[in-house]
Amino acid sequence: MDILKLKGSGQAQTTSEDKVAKPEISSLASVAADRSESKGDFVPRRPGAGLEAKGVHAWFGKHHVLANVSLNFPSGTVTALIGPSGCGKSTFLRTLNRMHEFIPGAGMAGEVLLDGTDIYKSGTDVTKIRLKVGMVFQKPNPFPSMTIGENVLSGIKLAQLKVSNKDDLLEECLQRAGLWNEVKDRLSAHGGSLSGGQQQRLCIARALAVKPEVLLMDEPCSALDPGSTLRIEETIRQLTESVIVVIVTHNMQQAARVSDFTGFFLSDGGPGQLVEVASTKEIFSRPKDERTEAYVTGRFG
Ligand SMILES: Nc1ncnc2c1ncn2[C@@H]1O[C@H](COP(=O)(O)OP(=O)(O)OP(=O)(O)O)[C@@H](O)[C@H]1O
Ligand SMILES: [Mg+2]
Repeated sequence: MDILKLKGSGQAQTTSEDKVAKPEISSLASVAADRSESKGDFVPRRPGAGLEAKGVHAWFGKHHVLANVSLNFPSGTVTALIGPSGCGKSTFLRTLNRMHEFIPGAGMAGEVLLDGTDIYKSGTDVTKIRLKVGMVFQKPNPFPSMTIGENVLSGIKLAQLKVSNKDDLLEECLQRAGLWNEVKDRLSAHGGSLSGGQQQRLCIARALAVKPEVLLMDEPCSALDPGSTLRIEETIRQLTESVIVVIVTHNMQQAARVSDFTGFFLSDGGPGQLVEVASTKEIFSRPKDERTEAYVTGRFG
């Protein structure tokens, strides 16, 4: 396999504390079953379309942190990635939109197909990939000296995308991120003047404004209060009409509430691996691997 040694100057993300809520497996199974029933049978919106990771490996220097991960994210679906701290969830997410290569010493192998085309193919415009595959980080990163409105529209401006009515788009994105009511009267205040949770919702609004095909969310609600968290989860559910969502979460209830599929990652001393992926209902009711069961029932991790 061809190992790409990639160079860049970006910063590593800090890993988070494990904030696992550890409810009973039966209650998680019923939450997941409720979601699956309310959504109905999964039917791909555009057959053949979507994001697919094939045999992805990742390194930091000589440290092999992710081994041979293959995962399919069909259009119209939400996939939750779960697993103990340090097992490579954030690293995997960053390989899906070519952000991994910005970390000094980072290496990667494998393929990531977006609608059938490898995003690592030589000659690929990385900026376009990041517009199609957006990302929301655990730690909100708005542009502090831009206004709230400018923050939301910053991706549009950067990519020189044409928008017929910017005010409508601004309102739509802030509504979907659950922030509109709090900021509608101060759209010209600086992004940095918002609280941490508001900044996170601002970043979600910014990510939505460029209408991505895929939205990668790395523990997006870890700094949010329960009300904002539910609003974001509602947004995620609405987004699946048009966007593929991949969400890393330590909150099992959240995975059960929002996702169609769940992938369980683990690094058993070696590089992180995908132990099991299945419908969320299955993962929380009858996982195939006993390590998955131990994790989702809170026996480890
Ligand atoms: N910038 C970096 N440089 C070197 N090693 C790194 C870097 N970022 C992450 N790692 C290592 O890669 C492995 C996977 O880290 P990663 O952040 O992907 O885990 P995670 O599953 O997201 O954990 P958490 O749940 O704590 O966020 C860990 O061993 C971590 O120490
Ligand atoms: Mg992480």
